[in-house]
Amino acid sequence: MLHKRRCLLICAILFIAWNILLIFFLMGRSSRYKDQKYNDVMTELMELVDKFEEEFESQNKILFEIERHRSLLGERKRNGTAVKWKPIVKKQRSVVIPILVIACNRVTVKRCLDKLLEYRPSAEHFPIIVSQDCGHAETANVIASYGSKVTHIKQPDLLDIPVPPAHRKFQGYYKISRHYRWALNQVFHTFSYSTVIVVEDDLEVAPDFFEYFKALYPILKSDPTLWCVSAWNDNGREGYVDPGKSSLLYRTDFFPGLGWMLLKEVWLELEPKWPASFWDDWMRHPDQRKERSCIRPEISRTLTFGHKGVSLGQFYERYLRFIKLNTQFVPFTKTDLSYLEKKKYDEAFEKEVYSAPLVTVKELQSGRLSGPGPFRVQYSSAESFKVLAKNFGVMDDLKSGVPRTGYRAIVSFFSRGKRIYIAPPVGWTKYNPSWS
Ligand code: UD1
Ligand code: MN
Repeated sequence: MLHKRRCLLICAILFIAWNILLIFFLMGRSSRYKDQKYNDVMTELMELVDKFEEEFESQNKILFEIERHRSLLGERKRNGTAVKWKPIVKKQRSVVIPILVIACNRVTVKRCLDKLLEYRPSAEHFPIIVSQDCGHAETANVIASYGSKVTHIKQPDLLDIPVPPAHRKFQGYYKISRHYRWALNQVFHTFSYSTVIVVEDDLEVAPDFFEYFKALYPILKSDPTLWCVSAWNDNGREGYVDPGKSSLLYRTDFFPGLGWMLLKEVWLELEPKWPASFWDDWMRHPDQRKERSCIRPEISRTLTFGHKGVSLGQFYERYLRFIKLNTQFVPFTKTDLSYLEKKKYDEAFEKEVYSAPLVTVKELQSGRLSGPGPFRVQYSSAESFKVLAKNFGVMDDLKSGVPRTGYRAIVSFFSRGKRIYIAPPVGWTKYNPSWS
C-alpha cells in the first residue's frame, strides 16, 4: 500500500514537472508572436493549465477518498498513527484580466491611466487596452505617451449616427453605444480574452481595485446567478457607508457599471442585440438582466471625476462627485467570500433585514432610537419608496422597477451611524418593471 502511495506521488510530481516544462516551452514560443497571436496562445495556454489543474484536483480528491477509507478501516502506519492526507497542490488560477479603458476626447484620461498603472500588481495579468473614439488628437497624444505600457486602439467609424429628430440631443449616447460594441468585440474576438474589466476615462481607481476583481473573478465565473462585478456603490457617499466595513460586499440586482467585469459568455449573449443607445439602462431591463445580479462593494473602488460629460453635469454635481473612494487596501484574495454565494447570502440577508425592527422615518429622525441598528423602514409602492429615499438622501430612481443598489428590492445604507434597510413587506417575490 505504501509503495502504491509513493508511486502515485512520483507520478503526480512528474505530471506537474511536465506541465511546467510545457508552459515554459509555449511561453518561449509565444514571445515571438505579437498582439493577437500572442493573446491567442496565452488564452489557450491558460485554458490548458486550468484543465490540467481540474484533472489533477479530481485525481487528488480520489486519492483523498482512498486515504479516508483506509484510515476508517483502521489501517495504520508502523508507529500506530493513521496516515494523514495532505493535498499535494493548492489550486491557483491565474487568468488574464484585461482592463478596457473607454476614451474619447478628454486628456484627463491621464488621471485614470496613472492610477491604473500605479496600483496594477502585474502587467501580464492585467494588460491595459485603451480604446479611443472621437479621433481627438490631443487625447491620442496623451494615450500614445504611455508607449508600450498600454495598447492603444481606435474606433474607426467617426461618422455621425442617423437618429430620430427627437433624439438629436442624444447623439452622444449613440456614439458611446457604438464604441462599446466595437471595443468589447476587440477584447473578446480580436484579442481573444475570456473576461474584461471596463473602465471609463473619467474614473479613478482605488488601491485595491485589482485585488477586488482578482478575488471576485472565480466567483463570477462559477455562479450563473451573477453576471457582473462592479466597483461602484450608487449610494456610496461619505456618511452613507460604514467606514469600518471596507471589506463588506453585497449582491445587487441593479447593474451599477462604472468599473465592472464581465465574462465573454455574457458578451456573446448581449452582442447580437446590443442597443443603438443608452446601453446601461438597456442592461437593466429584465430581457437582458434575466434576474441575474452583480457584486458591489460597501465603499466604491472607483470615483468619477467627469463633471463635463455626455449627460448633464447636474447629476454629477448633486451626487456623483460625493461618492467616497476606498483608501484602505483589503486583501480580498485572502478573504473568505463564500458568504456571497446566492443561497447562503439570500438566507442571511433576509434574516438580517427582516429581524431588524420596523421603524418610521420620524422615529429615526427624532434621535430616540439608540444603537447602531440595523433598522428597517418599509415601502409598498414606487411613490412610497421615493419618499423614503428622498428623506434619507439616497438615490430615489428605479430602473425597470429596481432601485439603485437594491437586492431583492432592499436598499442597504448607513445614516447617522446607523445601518438602515429600506425594504418591501415580508414575502417579496418579484420586481414590478413598470415602477419607474
Ligand atoms: C453616462 C454613464 C456612463 C455610460 C453612459 C452611456 C455615469 C456616471 N456615466 O455617461 O457610464 O456609459 O452614460 O449611457 O453614469 N465616449 C465615447 N464616445 C463619445 C462620447 C463619449 O466613447 O462620443 C466615452 C467617454 O470617453 C466615456 C464614456 O463614453 O468613457 C461615457 O461618456 P461621458 O461623457 O463620461 O458620459 P456620462 O454622462 O458619464
Ligand atoms: Mn462619465
